[in-house]
Amino acid sequence: MVKDMADTIIKLENIYKKYKTTLDWVLKDISLEINEAELIFICGPSGVGKSTLLHLVGLMDKPNEGRVLFLQKEIDFKKDNLSKIRLEHIGFVFQFHYLLEHLTVKENIMLPYWVKNGGKVTSDSVDYIEEYLDFLGISNLVSRYPHELSGGEQQRVALARALVNRPKIIIADEPTGNLDQENAKNIVSLIKNFVKNYGSTCIIATHNIELTKFGDRVLHMRDGKIIN
Ligand SMILES: Nc1ncnc2c1ncn2[C@@H]1O[C@H](COP(=O)(O)OP(=O)(O)O)[C@@H](O)[C@H]1O
Ligand SMILES: [Mg+2]
Repeated sequence: MVKDMADTIIKLENIYKKYKTTLDWVLKDISLEINEAELIFICGPSGVGKSTLLHLVGLMDKPNEGRVLFLQKEIDFKKDNLSKIRLEHIGFVFQFHYLLEHLTVKENIMLPYWVKNGGKVTSDSVDYIEEYLDFLGISNLVSRYPHELSGGEQQRVALARALVNRPKIIIADEPTGNLDQENAKNIVSLIKNFVKNYGSTCIIATHNIELTKFGDRVLHMRDGKIIN
């Protein structure tokens, strides 16, 4: 099927990336199109460049060479307000949940919303957040603190926080790396259902091959390249 250009959320063109301390390229000539409402897995062994690729897709780092297009517009890494774009359009989930221990579950989840809205919470925030909490099965946990939750619950809260600004794209770097297989599958199937119901796009890096069966597309990385 030929995809309409309007469906493309992020496009990478001939990306090369190295760090100051790495001799060789970490990413070599990566070209990739990520479309609306897709669940994509990036898999490959540790050190292959998965996180580096996600950082570029999430506009947290810039390539040495190549172009990044976000919503059909080329990113200017010097001039564009990248933190604004991230806050409005991108939700992040990491291996460790990074919830703030002195805030309740609800406050943790609302944090990106408050930042985006300059500390003001309007009533329209409430409807879909309640719905998301239900969807993730954490409505009954909102007044707890992170240390009062299991690992799987903490990660579902982190997922809710990533979703609170209704991002176009969710980037998850080993989101299940700290969970047992049952909780890992649970998180991924929640993400899959979310993508299906709400039309978000999600890109997940994992070395857990078993989870990739949930994906619409699986990209295998070796030596800084996508090999399929
Ligand atoms: N901030 C950094 N500075 C220097 N080298 C890095 C940095 N981040 C990652 N690397 C190196 O880049 C390579 C790819 O790392 P990474 O993208 O984290 O792989 P993965 O997520 O697949 O495990 C590794 O050799 C790693 O040591
Ligand atoms: Mg990694």
